[in-house]
Amino acid sequence: MDDSESPAPTNRYPASDEWHAVDRYFASTLLEEDGVLTEARRSGAVTTMPNAEVAANQGAFLSLLVKIADAERVLEFGTLAGYSTIWFARAVGENGHVVTLEIEPDNAAVAESNFRTAGVADRIETIIGPAAESAAQLMSDCVEPFDLVFIDADKPNNPVYLAAALDLTRPGSVIVIDNVVRDGAVVDSDSADPRVHGVRRVVEEIVANPELEATALQTVGEKGWDGLIIAFRR
Ligand code: DHB
Ligand code: MG
Repeated sequence: MDDSESPAPTNRYPASDEWHAVDRYFASTLLEEDGVLTEARRSGAVTTMPNAEVAANQGAFLSLLVKIADAERVLEFGTLAGYSTIWFARAVGENGHVVTLEIEPDNAAVAESNFRTAGVADRIETIIGPAAESAAQLMSDCVEPFDLVFIDADKPNNPVYLAAALDLTRPGSVIVIDNVVRDGAVVDSDSADPRVHGVRRVVEEIVANPELEATALQTVGEKGWDGLIIAFRR
């Protein structure tokens, strides 16, 4: 294949050395990614989506959101190796509870091993199966509402996960959606990428829902160019 047939680069503004250096600077000053988290990050390499976990400063951001919102119950769509799950489990404290939904049993096994190493396995429930089905089960079980929901699974299903999150939260809850910028692809209304459609459709649903007040933040760093939606349920 000659150059003209090469796939378009996915990152038009490649993650620069400076982005990495800045992430490393803050990860080594403001935050603490301890050995347990570093190992959980490394173990992401053996999951079905290597390198998809949040960066350390993003994990710390999620942890701060939990604390600012005084959240004790967190629901996560998409576990992989459980890196963000450990940040959540630490943030909710020993009386808190985290439910994390993972479709791949092998990923869940990696995550559960990380939870035991982190000493937080007792406050995390990992549910294996398609996240939409697991969430539907939580709804039919009428579980207590969650204070914070992190949507970070297969992107085409974002609208399904938002609908579930609305069913499983209360006014005052926080909903965070990962990977909404995708190297800027989010602005392409003609994108053929179903993950971009999943983001754009969830944005439309948020806009159409008077119960939700939301914003989006772009991020650069070790994870390239991406971003998060943060929504508050009025
Ligand atoms: C993708 C998913 C993620 O959760 C992530 O953090 C990065 C990329 C993806 O679907 O491409
Ligand atoms: Mg993600």
